[in-house]
Amino acid sequence: MRMDIDFQGRHVFVFGGTTGINFGIAQAFARCGARVSVASRKRENVDAALAVLAAQGAQTHGVCADVRDFDAVGAAFEDAAQRFGPIDALVSGAAGNFLCPANAMSANGFRTVVDIDLVGSFNVLRQAYAHLRRPGASLINITAPQATVAMRSQAHAAAAKAGIDQLTRVLALEWGADGIRVNAISPGPIDGTEGFRRLIARTEEELALAREAVPLRRFGTPDDIANLALFLASPYASYISGAVIPCDGGGAIDSVKPALERASAQQA
Ligand code: COA
Ligand code: NAP
Repeated sequence: MRMDIDFQGRHVFVFGGTTGINFGIAQAFARCGARVSVASRKRENVDAALAVLAAQGAQTHGVCADVRDFDAVGAAFEDAAQRFGPIDALVSGAAGNFLCPANAMSANGFRTVVDIDLVGSFNVLRQAYAHLRRPGASLINITAPQATVAMRSQAHAAAAKAGIDQLTRVLALEWGADGIRVNAISPGPIDGTEGFRRLIARTEEELALAREAVPLRRFGTPDDIANLALFLASPYASYISGAVIPCDGGGAIDSVKPALERASAQQA
Protein backbone atom coordinates (compact mmCIF):
# COMPACT_ATOMS: atom_id res chain seq x y z
CA MET A 1 0.00 0.00 0.00
CA ARG A 2 1.55 3.29 -1.11
CA MET A 3 0.73 6.65 0.41
CA ASP A 4 -0.01 9.51 -1.98
CA ILE A 5 0.89 13.02 -0.78
CA ASP A 6 1.59 15.92 -3.13
CA PHE A 7 5.27 16.98 -3.04
CA GLN A 8 5.17 18.66 -6.46
CA GLY A 9 8.09 21.05 -6.85
CA ARG A 10 9.54 20.23 -3.42
CA HIS A 11 13.24 19.41 -3.10
CA VAL A 12 13.94 16.21 -1.14
CA PHE A 13 17.50 15.05 -0.47
CA VAL A 14 18.13 11.42 0.57
CA PHE A 15 21.68 10.83 1.83
CA GLY A 16 22.60 7.16 1.49
CA GLY A 17 19.61 7.10 -0.86
CA THR A 18 20.87 4.89 -3.67
CA THR A 19 19.97 1.39 -2.41
CA GLY A 20 17.64 -0.48 -0.06
CA ILE A 21 15.27 1.28 2.31
CA ASN A 22 16.56 4.75 1.55
CA PHE A 23 16.21 4.25 -2.19
CA GLY A 24 12.63 3.11 -1.55
CA ILE A 25 12.10 6.41 0.25
CA ALA A 26 13.65 8.37 -2.65
CA GLN A 27 11.37 6.57 -5.11
CA ALA A 28 8.30 7.32 -3.02
CA PHE A 29 9.05 11.05 -2.92
CA ALA A 30 9.72 11.02 -6.68
CA ARG A 31 6.39 9.28 -7.29
CA CYS A 32 4.71 12.08 -5.29
CA GLY A 33 6.20 14.76 -7.54
CA ALA A 34 9.30 15.84 -5.59
CA ARG A 35 12.60 16.79 -7.17
CA VAL A 36 14.88 14.21 -5.58
CA SER A 37 18.61 14.42 -4.87
CA VAL A 38 20.42 11.26 -3.79
CA ALA A 39 23.99 10.75 -2.56
CA SER A 40 26.23 7.85 -1.56
CA ARG A 41 29.84 6.71 -1.95
CA LYS A 42 29.75 4.49 -5.01
CA ARG A 43 29.37 5.92 -8.50
CA GLU A 44 27.68 2.72 -9.74
CA ASN A 45 25.01 2.95 -7.04
CA VAL A 46 24.38 6.64 -7.73
CA ASP A 47 24.11 6.03 -11.49
CA ALA A 48 21.81 3.02 -11.05
CA ALA A 49 19.51 4.95 -8.71
CA LEU A 50 19.34 7.95 -11.05
CA ALA A 51 18.51 5.68 -14.00
CA VAL A 52 15.56 4.12 -12.15
CA LEU A 53 14.28 7.48 -10.89
CA ALA A 54 14.59 9.05 -14.34
CA ALA A 55 12.71 6.11 -15.87
CA GLN A 56 9.89 6.92 -13.43
CA GLY A 57 9.81 10.43 -14.88
CA ALA A 58 11.35 12.12 -11.85
CA GLN A 59 13.54 15.22 -11.82
CA THR A 60 16.66 13.92 -10.09
CA HIS A 61 20.17 14.83 -9.13
CA GLY A 62 22.93 12.52 -7.87
CA VAL A 63 26.20 13.10 -6.06
CA CYS A 64 29.01 10.81 -4.88
CA ALA A 65 30.01 11.64 -1.30
CA ASP A 66 31.14 9.78 1.80
CA VAL A 67 29.29 10.95 4.91
CA ARG A 68 32.58 10.71 6.84
CA ASP A 69 33.99 13.56 4.74
CA PHE A 70 32.51 16.79 6.14
CA ASP A 71 33.63 18.96 3.22
CA ALA A 72 32.41 16.50 0.59
CA VAL A 73 29.01 16.41 2.30
CA GLY A 74 28.91 20.22 2.24
CA ALA A 75 29.78 20.27 -1.45
CA ALA A 76 27.02 17.74 -2.17
CA PHE A 77 24.39 20.02 -0.61
CA GLU A 78 25.81 23.09 -2.36
CA ASP A 79 25.56 21.28 -5.66
CA ALA A 80 22.01 20.05 -5.11
CA ALA A 81 20.74 23.40 -3.81
CA GLN A 82 22.09 25.13 -6.91
CA ARG A 83 20.20 22.64 -9.07
CA PHE A 84 16.87 22.41 -7.22
CA GLY A 85 16.86 25.25 -4.66
CA PRO A 86 16.35 25.07 -0.87
CA ILE A 87 15.82 21.64 0.65
CA ASP A 88 12.29 20.95 1.91
CA ALA A 89 12.98 17.48 3.31
CA LEU A 90 16.17 15.61 4.12
CA VAL A 91 16.51 11.91 4.90
CA SER A 92 19.84 10.89 6.47
CA GLY A 93 20.17 7.12 6.22
CA ALA A 94 23.74 6.17 5.27
CA ALA A 95 24.92 3.27 7.43
CA GLY A 96 27.35 0.39 7.60
CA ASN A 97 27.07 -2.73 9.72
CA PHE A 98 28.33 -6.26 10.30
CA LEU A 99 27.84 -8.83 13.02
CA CYS A 100 30.86 -9.13 15.33
CA PRO A 101 31.11 -9.88 19.04
CA ALA A 102 32.72 -7.00 20.98
CA ASN A 103 35.67 -9.11 22.12
CA ALA A 104 36.56 -9.84 18.49
CA MET A 105 35.88 -6.34 17.12
CA SER A 106 38.89 -4.20 16.23
CA ALA A 107 39.04 -0.58 17.35
CA ASN A 108 38.89 0.42 13.69
CA GLY A 109 35.83 -1.77 13.10
CA PHE A 110 34.01 -0.03 15.98
CA ARG A 111 35.16 3.42 14.86
CA THR A 112 34.22 2.81 11.22
CA VAL A 113 30.56 2.12 12.00
CA VAL A 114 30.33 4.97 14.50
CA ASP A 115 31.96 7.28 11.93
CA ILE A 116 29.51 6.33 9.17
CA ASP A 117 26.32 6.15 11.21
CA LEU A 118 26.72 8.75 13.97
CA VAL A 119 29.42 11.19 12.89
CA GLY A 120 28.07 10.89 9.34
CA SER A 121 24.57 11.83 10.52
CA PHE A 122 25.95 14.91 12.27
CA ASN A 123 27.91 15.86 9.13
CA VAL A 124 24.81 15.48 6.96
CA LEU A 125 22.44 17.45 9.16
CA ARG A 126 25.02 20.10 10.04
CA GLN A 127 25.98 20.72 6.41
CA ALA A 128 22.34 20.68 5.27
CA TYR A 129 21.40 23.41 7.76
CA ALA A 130 22.51 26.29 5.52
CA HIS A 131 20.44 24.96 2.61
CA LEU A 132 17.17 24.15 4.38
CA ARG A 133 13.90 25.91 3.64
CA ARG A 134 12.95 27.61 6.83
CA PRO A 135 10.44 27.65 8.22
CA GLY A 136 9.09 24.35 6.98
CA ALA A 137 11.97 21.91 6.50
CA SER A 138 11.62 18.34 7.76
CA LEU A 139 14.71 16.30 8.67
CA ILE A 140 14.45 12.53 9.10
CA ASN A 141 17.20 10.34 10.51
CA ILE A 142 17.13 6.59 9.98
CA THR A 143 17.95 4.83 13.23
CA ALA A 144 17.48 1.17 14.28
CA PRO A 145 16.00 -0.91 17.11
CA GLN A 146 19.45 -1.66 18.60
CA ALA A 147 19.56 2.01 19.68
CA THR A 148 17.26 1.05 22.55
CA VAL A 149 17.36 -2.76 22.74
CA ALA A 150 20.77 -4.32 23.39
CA MET A 151 21.69 -6.84 20.68
CA ARG A 152 24.63 -9.21 20.65
CA SER A 153 27.38 -8.53 18.06
CA GLN A 154 26.09 -4.97 17.62
CA ALA A 155 28.26 -2.88 20.01
CA HIS A 156 29.28 -0.47 17.22
CA ALA A 157 25.87 -0.01 15.56
CA ALA A 158 23.95 0.05 18.86
CA ALA A 159 26.18 2.81 20.22
CA ALA A 160 26.01 4.76 16.96
CA LYS A 161 22.24 4.50 16.52
CA ALA A 162 21.63 5.42 20.20
CA GLY A 163 23.69 8.54 19.46
CA ILE A 164 21.52 9.25 16.41
CA ASP A 165 18.36 9.08 18.55
CA GLN A 166 19.73 11.67 20.95
CA LEU A 167 21.16 13.82 18.12
CA THR A 168 17.63 13.87 16.68
CA ARG A 169 16.22 15.23 19.94
CA VAL A 170 18.95 17.83 20.49
CA LEU A 171 18.67 19.22 16.95
CA ALA A 172 14.88 19.31 17.24
CA LEU A 173 15.39 21.41 20.36
CA GLU A 174 17.96 23.75 18.83
CA TRP A 175 16.44 24.16 15.36
CA GLY A 176 12.77 24.23 16.33
CA ALA A 177 12.88 28.04 16.54
CA ASP A 178 13.84 28.11 12.84
CA GLY A 179 10.71 26.13 12.01
CA ILE A 180 12.76 23.02 11.25
CA ARG A 181 11.38 19.67 12.43
CA VAL A 182 13.77 16.82 13.21
CA ASN A 183 12.53 13.24 13.67
CA ALA A 184 13.83 9.70 13.27
CA ILE A 185 12.38 6.48 11.89
CA SER A 186 13.41 3.18 13.46
CA PRO A 187 12.68 0.40 10.94
CA GLY A 188 12.14 -3.18 11.98
CA PRO A 189 13.43 -6.03 9.76
CA ILE A 190 12.85 -4.92 6.16
CA ASP A 191 12.82 -7.83 3.74
CA GLY A 192 15.10 -7.82 0.70
CA THR A 193 17.56 -5.24 2.04
CA GLU A 194 21.29 -5.39 2.75
CA GLY A 195 20.76 -4.81 6.47
CA PHE A 196 18.31 -7.71 6.58
CA ARG A 197 20.78 -10.01 4.78
CA ARG A 198 23.66 -9.03 7.05
CA LEU A 199 21.89 -9.01 10.40
CA ILE A 200 18.56 -10.73 10.45
CA ALA A 201 18.41 -13.91 8.47
CA ARG A 202 19.99 -15.91 5.69
CA THR A 203 18.72 -19.46 6.12
CA GLU A 204 15.09 -20.65 6.10
CA GLU A 205 15.37 -21.48 9.80
CA GLU A 206 16.70 -18.00 10.66
CA LEU A 207 13.91 -16.45 8.59
CA ALA A 208 11.27 -18.36 10.50
CA LEU A 209 12.79 -17.37 13.86
CA ALA A 210 13.05 -13.73 12.85
CA ARG A 211 9.43 -13.61 11.62
CA GLU A 212 8.30 -15.16 14.89
CA ALA A 213 10.01 -12.28 16.73
CA VAL A 214 7.77 -9.66 15.05
CA PRO A 215 4.44 -9.19 16.85
CA LEU A 216 2.65 -8.68 13.50
CA ARG A 217 4.36 -11.85 12.19
CA ARG A 218 5.59 -10.31 8.95
CA PHE A 219 8.70 -8.49 7.78
CA GLY A 220 8.46 -4.89 6.68
CA THR A 221 8.84 -3.53 3.14
CA PRO A 222 10.63 -0.39 1.94
CA ASP A 223 7.16 1.05 1.23
CA ASP A 224 6.23 0.69 4.92
CA ILE A 225 9.15 2.95 5.80
CA ALA A 226 8.64 5.28 2.84
CA ASN A 227 5.00 5.88 3.86
CA LEU A 228 6.15 7.10 7.28
CA ALA A 229 8.84 9.30 5.70
CA LEU A 230 6.24 10.88 3.38
CA PHE A 231 3.97 11.56 6.34
CA LEU A 232 6.79 13.06 8.45
CA ALA A 233 7.85 15.35 5.60
CA SER A 234 4.26 16.49 4.95
CA PRO A 235 2.17 19.25 6.53
CA TYR A 236 0.12 16.49 8.24
CA ALA A 237 3.09 16.09 10.61
CA SER A 238 3.64 19.82 11.17
CA TYR A 239 3.48 19.51 14.98
CA ILE A 240 5.73 16.43 15.24
CA SER A 241 9.36 17.08 16.13
CA GLY A 242 11.97 15.33 18.27
CA ALA A 243 10.19 11.98 17.85
CA VAL A 244 11.89 8.63 17.24
CA ILE A 245 9.17 6.52 15.64
CA PRO A 246 9.39 2.74 15.33
CA CYS A 247 8.01 1.26 12.09
CA ASP A 248 8.56 -2.36 12.98
CA GLY A 249 5.37 -4.42 13.21
CA GLY A 250 5.40 -3.88 16.98
CA GLY A 251 8.95 -5.11 17.53
CA ALA A 252 9.90 -2.23 19.83
CA ILE A 253 7.35 -3.24 22.46
CA ASP A 254 8.91 -6.70 22.90
CA SER A 255 12.20 -6.27 24.72
CA VAL A 256 13.04 -9.97 25.00
CA LYS A 257 12.97 -11.22 21.38
CA PRO A 258 14.29 -14.69 22.14
CA ALA A 259 13.81 -15.80 18.54
CA LEU A 260 15.84 -12.92 17.10
CA GLU A 261 18.57 -13.42 19.69
CA ARG A 262 18.84 -17.05 18.63
CA ALA A 263 19.04 -16.07 14.95
CA SER A 264 21.82 -13.50 15.43
CA ALA A 265 23.74 -15.78 17.82
CA GLN A 266 23.71 -18.47 15.12
CA GLN A 267 25.17 -16.04 12.57
CA ALA A 268 27.91 -14.44 14.70
N1 COA B 1 33.69 -8.48 10.95
C1 COA B 1 34.63 -7.87 11.71
N2 COA B 1 35.27 -6.72 11.36
C2 COA B 1 34.94 -6.19 10.17
C3 COA B 1 33.97 -6.75 9.32
C4 COA B 1 33.34 -7.96 9.75
N3 COA B 1 32.40 -8.57 9.01
N4 COA B 1 33.86 -5.98 8.21
C5 COA B 1 34.73 -4.96 8.37
N5 COA B 1 35.38 -5.08 9.54
C6 COA B 1 36.43 -4.21 10.07
C7 COA B 1 37.65 -4.27 9.16
O1 COA B 1 38.45 -5.42 9.44
C8 COA B 1 38.35 -2.96 9.50
O2 COA B 1 39.04 -3.03 10.72
P1 COA B 1 40.66 -3.29 10.77
O3 COA B 1 41.29 -2.16 10.01
O4 COA B 1 40.96 -3.28 12.21
O5 COA B 1 40.90 -4.61 10.10
C9 COA B 1 37.18 -2.01 9.73
O6 COA B 1 36.02 -2.84 10.02
C10 COA B 1 36.87 -1.14 8.54
O7 COA B 1 36.66 -1.98 7.41
P2 COA B 1 36.74 -1.41 5.91
O8 COA B 1 36.36 -2.53 5.01
O9 COA B 1 38.05 -0.73 5.69
O10 COA B 1 35.61 -0.26 5.98
P3 COA B 1 34.88 0.51 4.82
O11 COA B 1 34.80 1.91 5.23
O12 COA B 1 35.47 0.19 3.46
O13 COA B 1 33.40 -0.19 4.79
C11 COA B 1 31.79 -1.32 6.21
C12 COA B 1 32.51 -0.02 5.87
C13 COA B 1 32.79 -2.30 6.84
C14 COA B 1 30.71 -0.99 7.22
C15 COA B 1 31.20 -2.02 4.92
O14 COA B 1 30.61 -3.23 5.27
C16 COA B 1 30.20 -1.14 4.20
O15 COA B 1 30.60 -0.31 3.39
N6 COA B 1 28.87 -1.31 4.45
C17 COA B 1 27.82 -0.54 3.78
C18 COA B 1 26.60 -1.40 3.53
C19 COA B 1 25.95 -1.90 4.80
O16 COA B 1 26.63 -2.25 5.76
N7 COA B 1 24.63 -1.96 4.77
C20 COA B 1 23.83 -2.38 5.90
C21 COA B 1 23.34 -1.18 6.64
S1 COA B 1 22.43 -1.71 8.06
P1 NAP C 1 21.84 -0.38 2.37
O1 NAP C 1 21.08 -0.74 1.15
O2 NAP C 1 23.24 -0.89 2.50
O3 NAP C 1 21.82 1.20 2.50
C1 NAP C 1 22.87 1.96 2.97
C2 NAP C 1 23.10 3.13 2.04
O4 NAP C 1 24.07 4.00 2.58
C3 NAP C 1 23.61 2.70 0.65
O5 NAP C 1 22.96 3.48 -0.33
C4 NAP C 1 25.11 3.04 0.69
O6 NAP C 1 25.56 3.35 -0.64
C5 NAP C 1 25.10 4.24 1.63
N1 NAP C 1 26.34 4.40 2.38
C6 NAP C 1 26.99 3.47 3.14
N2 NAP C 1 28.10 3.99 3.68
C7 NAP C 1 28.14 5.29 3.25
C8 NAP C 1 29.05 6.35 3.47
N3 NAP C 1 30.15 6.19 4.22
N4 NAP C 1 28.79 7.55 2.89
C9 NAP C 1 27.71 7.73 2.10
N5 NAP C 1 26.80 6.76 1.87
C10 NAP C 1 27.04 5.56 2.43
O7 NAP C 1 21.10 -0.86 3.69
P2 NAP C 1 19.58 -0.90 4.22
O8 NAP C 1 19.44 -2.20 4.89
O9 NAP C 1 18.60 -0.48 3.20
O10 NAP C 1 19.65 0.20 5.40
C11 NAP C 1 19.23 1.55 5.21
C12 NAP C 1 19.08 2.24 6.56
O11 NAP C 1 18.06 1.58 7.33
C13 NAP C 1 20.34 2.24 7.42
O12 NAP C 1 20.43 3.45 8.12
C14 NAP C 1 20.09 1.08 8.38
O13 NAP C 1 20.82 1.21 9.58
C15 NAP C 1 18.59 1.24 8.61
N6 NAP C 1 17.91 0.01 9.07
C16 NAP C 1 17.80 -1.05 8.22
C17 NAP C 1 17.09 -2.17 8.64
C18 NAP C 1 16.86 -3.31 7.69
O14 NAP C 1 16.13 -4.27 8.02
N7 NAP C 1 17.44 -3.31 6.51
C19 NAP C 1 16.53 -2.22 9.94
C20 NAP C 1 16.71 -1.14 10.78
C21 NAP C 1 17.40 0.00 10.34
P3 NAP C 1 27.12 3.27 -1.07
O15 NAP C 1 27.59 1.88 -0.78
O16 NAP C 1 27.10 3.66 -2.53
O17 NAP C 1 27.82 4.31 -0.24
